[in-house]
Amino acid sequence: MAKAGEIVRLRARLAEADATLRALLGGDVDSVVVPGKHGDRVFTLHGAEHAYRVLIESMNEGALALTSDKMILYANQCFARMVKCPLEQVTGSSFRRFLSAGDRATLRSLMKRVAQSGAKIPVLLKVSDGSQLPAQISLRPLARNGINRATIGMVVTDLTESRRTEELLRALTHRVVQVQEAERGRVALELHDNITQLLCAVLFRSQALADNLAGRAGPAKREAVKLREMLGQAAGEVERITRNLRPGALDQLGLVDVLRDTSREFANRTGTSVKLTCVELVARLPADTELTLYRILQEALQNVEQHARARHVTVCLSLAGAFVQLAITDDGIGFDATHHAARRKAKGVLGLLGMHERAASVDGVLTVKSGRRAGTKIEVRIPLPAGTAAAN
Ligand SMILES: Nc1ncnc2c1ncn2[C@@H]1O[C@H](COP(=O)(O)OP(=O)(O)OP(=O)(O)O)[C@@H](O)[C@H]1O
Ligand SMILES: [Mg+2]
Repeated sequence: MAKAGEIVRLRARLAEADATLRALLGGDVDSVVVPGKHGDRVFTLHGAEHAYRVLIESMNEGALALTSDKMILYANQCFARMVKCPLEQVTGSSFRRFLSAGDRATLRSLMKRVAQSGAKIPVLLKVSDGSQLPAQISLRPLARNGINRATIGMVVTDLTESRRTEELLRALTHRVVQVQEAERGRVALELHDNITQLLCAVLFRSQALADNLAGRAGPAKREAVKLREMLGQAAGEVERITRNLRPGALDQLGLVDVLRDTSREFANRTGTSVKLTCVELVARLPADTELTLYRILQEALQNVEQHARARHVTVCLSLAGAFVQLAITDDGIGFDATHHAARRKAKGVLGLLGMHERAASVDGVLTVKSGRRAGTKIEVRIPLPAGTAAAN
């Protein structure tokens, strides 16, 4: 009889243990108190994550927990709003349904690596109304504890606003470049109409003065000859600046000839050797692209002259697929290009920053490779319209 009573008691205890286990697995228990020799000990369980859930629900970013095969175990309301899909339809479905085929492949390879570390990728989320939402997804591996099947934590950031700001910034940069060109044109015209004319008149008179003193020897004549020479140099310099400010020659001669003239003039004036290689173009490049390449060459050569202490410079214009590339390489002292950006902003100078912005204004990319005593290479790569190709 005693045995039957024992069995009943054990059954009751088993049922109680079973109910407790179910409650623990179901997340209905916040903490467990275990009596011990030194008093009760409290163990906190999953239910205590309530505070985190409230926080995640109030986030302005999508938050999700996924299984390793990308099934959504949990998503917050913000994510449901982003994809315009009721939360109950989001939970339990595959995250893949919100991605294009290309983004799915990227995510797949990323998930393989994410087990070790976090990662971020830009994607276009498929929204249920057929539209697309630019977003960034950040992945984090979650600690696995046997009960929870979630292995990946994901934060989805809506990039619509920042994309809009980027576009605005790009339009503004483009405008700055246009205004700068217009202003250069105006200054060039002023220089030509006023200073050049005036210098020519003074040069003419100084020539007359030198001629009048021709029969005489002595300091007055030497001064007159010197004066005429210096005025000639000044007129030449103003002419050069005017030409650089307004590249009218681009229209008449085309890009390759202008790059050649610029390189030759630089070599003659500074004594630095310049080797130029240019692909032959069968068609003119868009005017914006030609001007950008010309301005970048000017700016890069100016830097070589001012900072590089180089002996040789190579300038190379080439076509690579659907891109035109211009590379300017010098063998000078180089500089630390990585630490340069912040310093330059502080100084407020435009050189390299201006080159980057000019490249961006025609959808191009500029890269600077430089190292102390390792020379400098400036390379710009600009997409070409279809049909622009090299001559054989
Ligand atoms: N080819 C180069 N060789 C060595 N140092 C360079 C070269 N190009 C740039 N630098 C370094 O990078 C710095 C920034 O160049 P950047 O053209 O932006 O400004 P800057 O030439 O100093 O001023 P600005 O171009 O406005 O007259 C330079 O001060 C120089 O230290
Ligand atoms: Mg400069």
